Amino acid sequence: MKGVILAGGLGKRLEPLTRITNKHLLPVYDKPMIYYPIETLVDAGIKDILIVTGGNHAGEFLHLLGNGREFGLKHINYTYQKGEGGIAEALGLAEHFADNDKIVVILGDNIIESSIKKYADDFLKQPKGAKILLKEVDDPERFGVAEVKGNKILNIIEKPKKPKSKYAVTGIYMFDSRVFDIIKALKPSDRGELEITDVNNDYISIGEMTFDVLDGYWTDCGTHESLLNAGNLIAKLAYSG
Ligand code: DAU
Repeated sequence: MKGVILAGGLGKRLEPLTRITNKHLLPVYDKPMIYYPIETLVDAGIKDILIVTGGNHAGEFLHLLGNGREFGLKHINYTYQKGEGGIAEALGLAEHFADNDKIVVILGDNIIESSIKKYADDFLKQPKGAKILLKEVDDPERFGVAEVKGNKILNIIEKPKKPKSKYAVTGIYMFDSRVFDIIKALKPSDRGELEITDVNNDYISIGEMTFDVLDGYWTDCGTHESLLNAGNLIAKLAYSG
């Protein structure tokens, strides 16, 4: 299975920090943000990795990561998203890289404590479709929120005003190769983006979405508050370990 890290977008919610660098190069405690999703994929046994980035500072990824030797990799693939057309648009740029393989996708600002290896291994055995990872949170209205019944997801609503559950959809997604056909048929949302939630709802509507609930902490780093929180979580773990 291949891995795709989505590190495009302009990080406007982190202004002025993102005026002179890419959001995913900002520090989270002692490492640049992008290190964490790379480590998550490598830990899951995924060594064939594409980073989708964008904006004015994309070249800095090469300076920082090179061929990924620090992570035990021989090579890292890179591609460029122009503008900020959404998570699904960024993922669409990975079609040639995926080359009909299954993929694990992780948002470049998502940081987790535990391993996703068991979920990735399960998805490899899943004949087709998609898998997402959920996490119970106190502020679900900031995320895509899944309505769950038993072992089924009924639907996902992006940033609902009145969330139907506390299950946020984390930025870790596993897809079969049909994801690229689904993306091609998407229409931009009210905020002008191709939404990953619409992709996931497509898989739900054809009965091909599975899910697990993630162990350990999970945070994004999209706002000043969540960026600080992420740094504090990592620091706490470093001092306790
Ligand atoms: O973190 C999980 C959440 O991420 C999910 O619960 C939501 O369903 C999903 O829509 C997303 O929500 P955000 O509003 O937090 O996404 P944001 O625009 O902050 O983008 C998250 C990452 O996705 C960003 O760090 C890089 C990547 N991205 C985003 C956009 C808009 C791209 O690569 N290209 C883009 O155009």
